[in-house]
Amino acid sequence: MAVRRIDHLGIAVESLDEALQAYTAGLGLELAGREEVEEQGVRVAMLPTEAGRIELLEPTRPDSPIARFLATRGPGLHHVALEVEDIHKALEQAQAAGLRLIDATPRRGAGGSLVAFIHPKSLGGVLVEFVEPAGREA
Ligand code: CO
Repeated sequence: MAVRRIDHLGIAVESLDEALQAYTAGLGLELAGREEVEEQGVRVAMLPTEAGRIELLEPTRPDSPIARFLATRGPGLHHVALEVEDIHKALEQAQAAGLRLIDATPRRGAGGSLVAFIHPKSLGGVLVEFVEPAGREA
């Protein structure tokens, strides 16, 4: 099977600092790290749980996908990320089954991972991100 588990839930927020306050003080989660992914125009904060992580996403520029999402839909659940063993194989399988790919080839994600998005129209209205974690192959 291509998919191993839920890696994280991506949540679009206007302010990372405000959201972090709520998710740490309010929910008792711990901040594992912050990172800016320039390519995608986002600042990311990761909060692990026992099963999967919460990924808070704040836009760094007005033309980034997260900024456009916030402008049209407001803050909220943005995507569900599924960990896959081999992202190239997973994309091949999805495409062969007729799913619409946003990324035909993987790109660089947070923490040195490889990521690719599948169009929400293909998966019940949910934007799905495939994640192949860094350094799992070596
Ligand atoms: Co994500």
